[in-house]
Amino acid sequence: MIDTLRFGILGMLLLGGWGLKPLVADASQDAWLRYAPLDRAVRAKYESLPRSLVVLGDSAVLRAAQREMIRGVRGTTGKTLHAGKTFQGRAIVLGALAAIHAAVPGLAPLDPLKADGFWLVTARVRGFDCLIVTSPTERGVLYGVFALLSRMARGESISPLNERQQPYATIRWVDQWDNLNGTIERGYAGSSIFFEKGHVRADLIRAGAYARLLASIGIAGCTINNVNADPRAIDDGFLSQLARIADVFRPWGVQLAVSVDLSSPKILGELDSFDPLDPQVIEWWRTKVDKIYRQIPDFGGFVVKADSEGRSGPSFYGRTPADAANLMARALKPHGGVLFYRAFVYDHHLDWRNAKNDRARAAYDIFHPLDGKFDDNVIVQIKYGPIDFQAREPVSPLFGGLEKTSQGIELQVTQEYTGQQRHLCFLPTMWKEMLDFDLRVNGGRTPVKALVAGQVFHRPAGAFVGVANVGTAMNWLWHPMAMANLYGFGRLAWDPDLSAKTIAEEWTRLAFGNDPVVVESITDLLLTSWPAYENYTGPLGAQTLTDIVGSHYGPGIESSERNGWGQWHRADHEGIGMDRSVATGTGFAGQYPPPIRDLYESLATTPDQVLLFFHHVPYTYRLHSGKTVIQHIYDSHYEGAEQAADFVRRWKSLAHRVPDNSYRAVLARLEYQAGHAIVWRDAICNWFLRTSGIADAKGRVGNHPDRIEAEAMQLKGYTVMDVTPWENASGGKGIECVRASACTASFLFDRAAGIYEMDVQYFDQNNGKSNFRVFVDHQQVDQWIAADRLPATKPGGDSSTRRRIPGLTLRSGAEIRIDGLPDGKERAPLDYVDLHASTK
Ligand code: GCU
Repeated sequence: MIDTLRFGILGMLLLGGWGLKPLVADASQDAWLRYAPLDRAVRAKYESLPRSLVVLGDSAVLRAAQREMIRGVRGTTGKTLHAGKTFQGRAIVLGALAAIHAAVPGLAPLDPLKADGFWLVTARVRGFDCLIVTSPTERGVLYGVFALLSRMARGESISPLNERQQPYATIRWVDQWDNLNGTIERGYAGSSIFFEKGHVRADLIRAGAYARLLASIGIAGCTINNVNADPRAIDDGFLSQLARIADVFRPWGVQLAVSVDLSSPKILGELDSFDPLDPQVIEWWRTKVDKIYRQIPDFGGFVVKADSEGRSGPSFYGRTPADAANLMARALKPHGGVLFYRAFVYDHHLDWRNAKNDRARAAYDIFHPLDGKFDDNVIVQIKYGPIDFQAREPVSPLFGGLEKTSQGIELQVTQEYTGQQRHLCFLPTMWKEMLDFDLRVNGGRTPVKALVAGQVFHRPAGAFVGVANVGTAMNWLWHPMAMANLYGFGRLAWDPDLSAKTIAEEWTRLAFGNDPVVVESITDLLLTSWPAYENYTGPLGAQTLTDIVGSHYGPGIESSERNGWGQWHRADHEGIGMDRSVATGTGFAGQYPPPIRDLYESLATTPDQVLLFFHHVPYTYRLHSGKTVIQHIYDSHYEGAEQAADFVRRWKSLAHRVPDNSYRAVLARLEYQAGHAIVWRDAICNWFLRTSGIADAKGRVGNHPDRIEAEAMQLKGYTVMDVTPWENASGGKGIECVRASACTASFLFDRAAGIYEMDVQYFDQNNGKSNFRVFVDHQQVDQWIAADRLPATKPGGDSSTRRRIPGLTLRSGAEIRIDGLPDGKERAPLDYVDLHASTK
């Protein structure tokens, strides 16, 4: 509570007050809640906004709503609202429906509202024109306040107002994969805002600020620790620490939940079994849950990952996931808690030689036979696709395979396989495709969104869960544009019928303001980013061709093959793809309801975009688009890299239209992305060229007339090295400086004199900070330190980075020299230089 108050004051100080330019813009911790001063013309729309704020009732949530209302109106319009409890004139009125009824008998929405739904309405109260924000729940009132302020920040009209909104899914939560030591599994934006060194942080200001952001998009729960759960999170001595986090969440209506390890009773040293059917184990969980609720009365529940990726599980005792889930669900039930049981259960020691083995089958094979065996407060939490958060997968068939079980969809905000917040990749575009996909269960119209919300089979609950992994980075997710994904997740959980475009536009207006040029450009950028990412990473549903067993970041085409993880694409000299048909393959297609099964079973009807997920075809196979598979691979990777380059051009058109600090931050990241997209493009195209032996019809692949390989330069001190896998460096080789002093690589420029742009491709590892200097005819033209924190300790696809040096005036015969000074384990490694005649 105190923390929250302090944050409120801090936030206002940061905003700098009315009339001053905000000190922090989109990149601040206020994210889409900046409440930046509106232009005079827009502000005029809110002239008639009452100055008085009446709050009916008193609770932490209503007080948060009141403070937010004051803060938002002050920020956007410069006006200060006066809060009170009584009507003395025109007022903005906040209150739950029951309180509103008591104050204004007869005022009610036409149709009843669901819990957390809200009504914004202008009405006459005791002779005064009032703006009422009401809901059956106080949390809904808070949501209504955020919706009202969002309208204002986006310059929309608010008078008269009669807007009713209801959440689509009853449960809208985020998961954080934070470890108690302060690291975050698959987190790309700093350390945990909850934990450090095995404890809950003393300072929870950021945790409160996070809850505020979550509440503003209707998210009502947060699981704060890694699904690979540390049992100490529910140790008796730890519960009071958890309670402190629940305290800062509470004013924002966010329930705290934790991930638990099924074997906790044993690991915590209290029992010698964790058998879900053992009475002692049942009693252990009951007692544990009671203790939790004593300290955290509004505790949300547990998330369980079991029998997956080395986690212990019910299979150890020959029990089922339903046995394990019900064990905990029954302990939570009397308190109103829910149990999320993750369907991400699979064997990661599959025999890759057996063509019938298929990891994609696992979730359905395990959970479908258990349909109806789960208690009502169990939610089976299902990743959107059958594999693992790839840039393209078909939807999981399990969504259609549970009729008597509540389910939830797990989406991933943290960009594990989609560029790790170093690449711009706006995911709501993909999520929309998933949510709108009609699985045709029992022949009817059954889009995934309706199935997971429990609407199709009239389940008591349904859930949207987003794996968020925000961190201590000031802007939460590190890339200034990545928060559009968290925003989009919340908006889709609230209303999956919103279009990706609407969401992108809303976010842009809130984060960058209402300049129509900015709104249009950023919206376009967001909407094209996922297709571009898919283009330069993985083709035709073969999944993201990344380093599957390591970083999940740069290219790693063969890392998925010949191991038990089951993310196989089975590319060989003849063809590529997994045969998942019923007739000749793994039978996975048969897990879908008949109309969808038939669609995917036949090569002729399978859509191009998931072709290689379902079928193994020769490279010469012709797609519906008319192209061969191999030519599609080449073209899409060139197109994707070109799209990424275009992002930079498009962003540059916004100079002076967006705040300088965010302009520069985004530009730097887009420049990096454009360079890394080329690393991806070349790795994949070269690998497929060598593997298939089929040339690119357009002659681009393996042909780089502007490129000078480092290994072909004049080297002093530098030695040639092989890069593994070979496709992750141009020509499979680079150079490294294996000594303490600087090494040099030089070449003579043999093209026509002119102005050139030079790209230096080097490897930036996280275990050293090499220094590079570039000279033209002994004149230094650039220098930099390779000090990024990329997920790489060696030269390769994760570390390959581009330095662009624009506007170089070169004479024919000029000597170009690069000096590289190694540091730590980073040996100033270089790959190549590319020189293009400047277009400016
Ligand atoms: C992915 C991810 C893991 C995570 C797992 C999960 O495989 O790489 O870090 O633990 O998903 O969702 O459980």
